[in-house]
Amino acid sequence: MRALASTAGSGGRIRGPLGWAALLLALLALHTLWLAAADAHSATAKETDGARTHVVEIRQFKYFPATLEVKAGDTITWKNLDAAPHTATAKGWDSGRLNRGQSWTLKVTGKGTIEYICVYHPAMKGKVVVK
Ligand code: CO
Repeated sequence: MRALASTAGSGGRIRGPLGWAALLLALLALHTLWLAAADAHSATAKETDGARTHVVEIRQFKYFPATLEVKAGDTITWKNLDAAPHTATAKGWDSGRLNRGQSWTLKVTGKGTIEYICVYHPAMKGKVVVK
């Protein structure tokens, strides 16, 4: 019984300084791989987090802010806080009628300046600058 136990025990043991060196190298390699994976993951997260959501409030027949600067990939939400219905309408997109409390969200793509109005009150003007 004693001999059996001894044989089984030594089978899993690390033998000599070379064994320890090999184990250390293996651990270092794993650590390096783990760091590389963590780096790759955080780079992806930063790109995802880079897209922002902006809010334009519509109140007192005006857009706040009237001029909004965003980056391509960002989203903009227009929210109507007036009792009167409004829209945010540009050449390429249209919120449609927004009653009080309603909102509409647009994902911005190309770069440039987009001017928009409210179709019910064309004096209401806003601008989105995409950089
Ligand atoms: Co309006």
